[in-house]
Amino acid sequence: MDNAGMKKGIVLKDDWPGYSLDLFTYPEHYHEDIESVYIPHGIIMNRVERLAGYIMDDFADNNNIMVLCVLKGGYKFCADLVEFIKVLGRNSNKYLETRVEFIRLKSYLNDQSTEELQIIGSGDLSFLRGSVLIVEAIVDTGKTMKALLKHVETFEPKMVKVAGLLVKRVPNMAESLTDYVGFEIPNHFVVGYALDYNEYFRDLNHLCVISKTGKMKYKV
Ligand code: HPA
Ligand code: MG
Repeated sequence: MDNAGMKKGIVLKDDWPGYSLDLFTYPEHYHEDIESVYIPHGIIMNRVERLAGYIMDDFADNNNIMVLCVLKGGYKFCADLVEFIKVLGRNSNKYLETRVEFIRLKSYLNDQSTEELQIIGSGDLSFLRGSVLIVEAIVDTGKTMKALLKHVETFEPKMVKVAGLLVKRVPNMAESLTDYVGFEIPNHFVVGYALDYNEYFRDLNHLCVISKTGKMKYKV
């Protein structure tokens, strides 16, 4: 079966309001700070398991996956994805050796509109010569991802794939850069599942829409 369409993500329409907070549990300290549960943790987890399945199929011939996790927002997605890859390997007796490296990125445009990408705190990236899976929480215009891909290509990897938990529908969206998409969402600011607003909300499991009160309270 051709999975190409399914790898492109569950599409959340522009008018999706999210679920009422009363329907789920969440940390009490965020009681007034979130508007709705945009994507519940259980749905995220099952979607991540599904993506792990596609990845297993695509990397099977290479016997290993060199995972490049883009911090900080990607840490939960990456941890859960790698865990599911291990479980699926165990259950099918087709173990894939998995290694993980972590990077942080700062991107900015100079006055020539040339993208420059600063890679921070990277360990030894020589493992990028293998079969690489870039794991990123959000891909929107793709400017950052394009620059990162260019950098990874300099190591001449055997293959490079990109997993994005969320792809945002923005003008010139970069859907085609992302091989495995969890969810395609409107251009909303969401928090939770390691995505932050000024470092808050990373401890929230669901992906949520922040409330006006929350925006004010954690403003810097
Ligand atoms: N949430 C958190 N961080 C982000 C987002 C978002 O929606 N978009 C870009 N960085
Ligand atoms: Mg952030």
